[in-house]
Amino acid sequence: MRTLGNLLVTGGAGFIGSAFIRRVLANPAFTGTIIDLDAMTYAGNLDNLAGVDPARHVFVHGDILDGQLVEKLVDEHRITTIVHFAAESHVDRSIHGPGTFIQTNIVGTMRLLDAVRARPHVHFHHISTDEVYGSLGKDGIFTETSPYLPNSPYAASKAGSDHLVRAWGRTYHLSTTMSHASNNYGPYQFPEKLIPLMILNCLEGKPLPVYGDGQNIRDWLHVDDHADAVWRILERGEAGQVYDIGGGNEWKNLDLVHELVRLVAELKGEPVDTYRQLITFVKDRPGHDLRYAIEGEKIARELDWRPTYDFVAGLRATIQWYLANPAWIERVKTGAYRQWLDTNYATRS
Ligand code: NAD
Ligand code: DAU
Repeated sequence: MRTLGNLLVTGGAGFIGSAFIRRVLANPAFTGTIIDLDAMTYAGNLDNLAGVDPARHVFVHGDILDGQLVEKLVDEHRITTIVHFAAESHVDRSIHGPGTFIQTNIVGTMRLLDAVRARPHVHFHHISTDEVYGSLGKDGIFTETSPYLPNSPYAASKAGSDHLVRAWGRTYHLSTTMSHASNNYGPYQFPEKLIPLMILNCLEGKPLPVYGDGQNIRDWLHVDDHADAVWRILERGEAGQVYDIGGGNEWKNLDLVHELVRLVAELKGEPVDTYRQLITFVKDRPGHDLRYAIEGEKIARELDWRPTYDFVAGLRATIQWYLANPAWIERVKTGAYRQWLDTNYATRS
């Protein structure tokens, strides 16, 4: 069992990083402090961390590309473990502008690894994605030994960062672990990704844009299950090992959108047709991967971790969260969440 002191979490104001911070700070097994380094891109939202204990969550506005800042934080806060979530994460944005993906995802990861290289007592956990394995056909499943076949600039940049983690670990004898997760869903997800976009568009009566024929398949994982899996790896994962984290929960996009529509109608007490008629087929995403699916046997066998969420219950709770949090939605839609410097959060930096 690894001893977890103070953690440096990168990208902790994003969707998954903030879920991880909320979970870890609520876990009595963790007694340390979290230093949260985030550049506050469009995806960073400190509203995601409202309510966390400021004494145990030190927010630092800064870029992982700033190696000196990273080194200073590791030394000043006696960091034992870096948990690296920070990334440009949206495939469609990577198609329109790959440059920042290369900078943050590859060069930024190298800066963090170089900080660890000079401080080999620090453990480094890298958050990666199943997209590095490319696309499955109708059959097959990803495992930790699947070949790297990335198809989007985003996936290629994550694959590049994975290779750096492996190479730095082997060459410089660093303590590293890495995980590849499938598609996450849950509260606080930025409404550019499929599930929150569809929920918000339903609520506003806007078209629900389904790319291509909607037959692409994703394996959905609740963000809290992901956070728990990462915690398990931090505590018990063997240095040098890679773990895949899946939901065991494959859905065709079109079926998922129909399920969302059904649930929104149920929760709003309105006829399903009100929302079903919004489904609109649009031009496909270039290089659109057909199917992702994770086997997940290694993490179950070695670390006794399995997903716990029932998907339909998780989706219903996610929709209920968006319905119960109009202020969060409003601040995202108006851009007010970007005015964080003028708010009380500024005192956290
Ligand atoms: P997100 O886009 O919601 O959040 C990313 C966070 O990183 C934001 O807070 C942003 O401000 C920050 N950031 C971006 N560039 C930075 C930089 N240069 N320096 C410091 N901070 C920076 O992303 P997410 O969905 O929470 O994903 C987190 C991680 O999980 C990513 O590494 C992503 O590749 C991986 N992942 C995501 C999913 C998913 O379904 N969302 C699935 C598997 C893996
Ligand atoms: O598999 C893990 C990956 O999952 C993560 O590494 C990425 O960070 C995360 O963004 C996600 O990538 P996807 O491209 O699978 O997620 P997205 O929500 O963008 O799209 C899910 C599916 O829905 C995909 O097949 C494209 C489709 N889609 C998406 C949007 C935004 C639509 O049909 N319409 C849409 O408007």
